[in-house]
Amino acid sequence: GKGLAVFTSGGDSQGMNAAVRSVVRMGIYLGCKVYFIREGYQGMVDGGDNIEEANWSSVSSIIHKGGTIIGSARCMEFIKKEGRLKAAYNLVSRGITNLVVIGGDGSLTGANLFRQEWSSLLDELLENNKITKDQREKYKFLHIAGMVGSIDNDFCGTDMTIGTDSALHRIIEAIDAIVSTAYSHQRTFIMEVMGRNCGYLAVVTALASEADFVFIPEAPPSVDWKDKLCDKLEQERRSGQRLNIIIVAEGAIDREGKPITAELVKKVVVDNLQQDTRITVLGHVQRGGSPSAFDRILGCRMGAEAVMALMEATPETEPCVVSLDGNQAVRLPLMECVRRTKAVSQAMADKNWDLAVQLRGRS
Ligand code: F6P
Repeated sequence: GKGLAVFTSGGDSQGMNAAVRSVVRMGIYLGCKVYFIREGYQGMVDGGDNIEEANWSSVSSIIHKGGTIIGSARCMEFIKKEGRLKAAYNLVSRGITNLVVIGGDGSLTGANLFRQEWSSLLDELLENNKITKDQREKYKFLHIAGMVGSIDNDFCGTDMTIGTDSALHRIIEAIDAIVSTAYSHQRTFIMEVMGRNCGYLAVVTALASEADFVFIPEAPPSVDWKDKLCDKLEQERRSGQRLNIIIVAEGAIDREGKPITAELVKKVVVDNLQQDTRITVLGHVQRGGSPSAFDRILGCRMGAEAVMALMEATPETEPCVVSLDGNQAVRLPLMECVRRTKAVSQAMADKNWDLAVQLRGRS
């Protein structure tokens, strides 16, 4: 059977295990020899026990677990050519020429670069007598399929990344808990949520929790935001609301690009309104715990599709990312999606907020 390996890379997210499980079982079902690569790219570089053959039962009882049972890492060695050469050797010596990568845009970009270099890496291994001519010939094509595992929903091309739905559940549960204590004490709470430079988690949870205000990176507020915020909070209190909830995305910024932190918002509220105000930073709670039903099924569907994409690949097939479009699993050109994702960050860096919002909307 064909050699196929699956690994998770970058920040973990709920639902990654469902995806790993699905890749392993679909791979075995289609006659592949399937491997886990532990600890992301680091395990691929280090080889040894990090690359282990998987069987049907090695992925039993993992679908309900958060995180990733095969570990994940941010790897510096893979960024260097020597690291990638070691990784190529570790794959070829096991007959692995099909890779499923589950990670964010950085991890997917790394996989694409690896594929582009594959031929020259094999040439170098052959020159150094690390592999035989037969191996050079037999394993000359590397196929790649990606899936986006991230709670941030920050990838262009897919409606939902694996983990986002679970993170939303976790945040909503936390806000509901905060609301009850805020109500008792007539307090204002500022909740900081994750999302790096993507405001998706903040916007959706703000809408779903009836928050009074939300700050996100893609659409900084107008320069008079402090007045607007205070007017809004006051107005809600006047109309009988006993509490206020403000959601701040961790990457929130103002129009000059300066951070709008939970501390800053608290100062504005306390200085102007003298409201009893507290901050809750949700942090990694959002990324942990068991995956929602949606993320489990999403991981399963994406994993199966990724394996099918690899099995159907020809030498000319470009690396794909398996995405959710409507309710369909689709295969999209990996690098085009990465380019679109980077365009959002660029628009934000250029302070072109209209474009940033427009590009996010299209993602
Ligand atoms: O990308 C996922 C994410 O959780 C972001 O929302 C957050 O900014 C970042 O990872 C945190 O990274 P780390 O786990 O390395 O602290």
